[in-house]
Formats: sequence, C-alpha cells, structure tokens
Amino acid sequence: MQRLRSPAKVQTVNDATPRTIGKTKSTRCRLPGLAVRDGLIRHPFDLEFGVRTSGLVAGRHLIAGHRNDRHATAYYAIAPSVFRSILARWRRCRPRAPLDAYTFVDLGAGMGRALLLAAEFPFRAVIGVEFHPLLARIARRNLAQWRAADRDRAPLRLVCADAAEFPLPAGPCVVFLFNPFGAPVLRRLLASWSRSFAGREGQLDILYVNNEQEHVFQAQPGFARLFQGQIRRSHADAVADRKILINQPEAEYAATPWEDCSVYRWVGTAGEPRPRTREIDSKRGEARIRR
Ligand SMILES: C[S@@+](CC[C@H](N)C(=O)[O-])C[C@H]1O[C@@H](n2cnc3c(N)ncnc32)[C@H](O)[C@@H]1O
Repeated sequence: MQRLRSPAKVQTVNDATPRTIGKTKSTRCRLPGLAVRDGLIRHPFDLEFGVRTSGLVAGRHLIAGHRNDRHATAYYAIAPSVFRSILARWRRCRPRAPLDAYTFVDLGAGMGRALLLAAEFPFRAVIGVEFHPLLARIARRNLAQWRAADRDRAPLRLVCADAAEFPLPAGPCVVFLFNPFGAPVLRRLLASWSRSFAGREGQLDILYVNNEQEHVFQAQPGFARLFQGQIRRSHADAVADRKILINQPEAEYAATPWEDCSVYRWVGTAGEPRPRTREIDSKRGEARIRR
C-alpha cells in the first residue's frame, strides 16, 4: 500500500496534539475508516472466517495518548498471501530453533489479522501489541473467535501497549512489523533489543513488510539482512485490496501488487563493531558477505 500524495509509502506523521489526545482516548471512540459510511469494504478474509479486520485508518487518527502516537503510519491489515509468503521466506532462512520454540510477536497488531494467520502455525506463543484501545478490543474479540473455532495452533494474546515499551519474552522470538511506525520508534526498539539480546545471537529474527525504514537497520550494528525483495500479493488479495483502496473517501493510499519486504537476524553483541554478516541476494538467491 502506498501513500498517493508523496512518493513515500505509508508513513503518516500524524498531527497529534495534547488537545486532540484528550478528546479521542476513549475505547468507545469512532475511528474514521472503519464504517461503511467511510467507504469500508470487507476483505474476503473477514467474510470467510467471520472476523473483523478490514478498514483503513490514517495515522493522524490513531491517537491513543502514548508518546509515540505521532509516529504511527496507518491501520491496514496485511494481505494474507503476503503474510504466508514472508513466513515461508523466513523459514527458508534457517531459523536457529524449531518453530515451536519461537514466540511470534506482532508489534502494531491492529485488529489482529497477522496474529490469526500466525496462529495457523505451531509457535510457542503468538503475541500482538497494539496501542490503540479500540483496535486492541476488536483484536481480542477476533482472537476469541479464532479459539472458539478451534483454528489456533498456538496460544494467542493481545497486549494493549506502546510497542516501544514492550519487553520481548525470553527464548527465540520472531518479530513481525507491517510498517507500523516511523524511524524514531524503530531506532529505539533496535537499540533496546541490542541490549536485551546481548549474548543471545540468532535468537531474534525480524520480518519487515513495507520496509520503509530500512535505513534504520543499516545504521544499527548487529542485524544481518537475510532477505530483501518484493513479495507479490495473490491475485485474489490484489483484487480485494485494490477494490478497498479505490473506495476510500480521501483517496490517500494506493494499492501496489507487491510489498517491499526484508528479513533480519540479530547476530551481534551490543557495543561490538558491526559483525560480518551473510546476506541473501533476493533476485539471484546468492549469499554474500557484508559489513
Ligand atoms: C499497518 S497496521 C498493521 C496491522 C497488523 N500488524 C496486520 O498486519 O494486520 C499498523 C498498526 O500499528 C499500530 N501502532 C503504531 N504505532 C504503534 C506503537 N508505537 N505501539 C503499538 N502499536 C502501534 C497502529 O495503531 C496500527 O494498528
């Protein structure tokens, strides 16, 4: 999904002020972009599974009273085909532990579509972190429905919090980011993980979809890029997303047939010089060494 008015993708610096924060904090608030009168069209994923994950909320409306509100990009759920492809890509990158040893963490979980998809796999646990209380409430309802329908192969939970304050659990983690926030939040997270994963080389992998802030990874020592490339939507998802985005009243975002993605692994130790890392060339599938 790309923002139309600028060449940049979905990076919305929203216009939160203390005045607007106070007025929109309630979990009962209405978020523009989630109702039929806002142009909402339900994605086939929701129609098939009876959940609620559709909608497009611009970043400027995602005001939850947190210090990082203004760095939120937008709410839009991941295309299921892109999610499944990047997970398959990651599994080809030889995770350092079996799948059931990993905790899957979606930072900026929205209404939880990626969590539901992740729970199709036997992870140790699947955790979503979402700071907007209304989206978090809808996500929890979706997770309950998933459990009731017996579709969960992993324990699922949603934490309503700022991702920047969320400590990753012990053991191997795979973090999923669907371009939830701007560079300042990502920078802070990478610095914090460099400290908390010191001595735990290979225990943290990051799947970054719509990887607008790639430069932040390049500036932080210790993260090896294992994959970078475009992941295409399935035909059905491309049709659905195009239909949804054409219908938005403010015509702010455009659908692309692919998402720019990357996969990173923590291979360093805080304070050490940037390690030599293996990088897979996405087009040629070759491994290269970079510093
Ligand atoms: C593009 S949506 C992704 C939704 C979900 N991950 C998916 O793939 O379906 C990004 C979400 O990140 C949330 N978000 C943005 N900044 C956040 C922060 N600092 N902490 C927690 N959630 C945040 C937004 O409210 C929004 O719901």
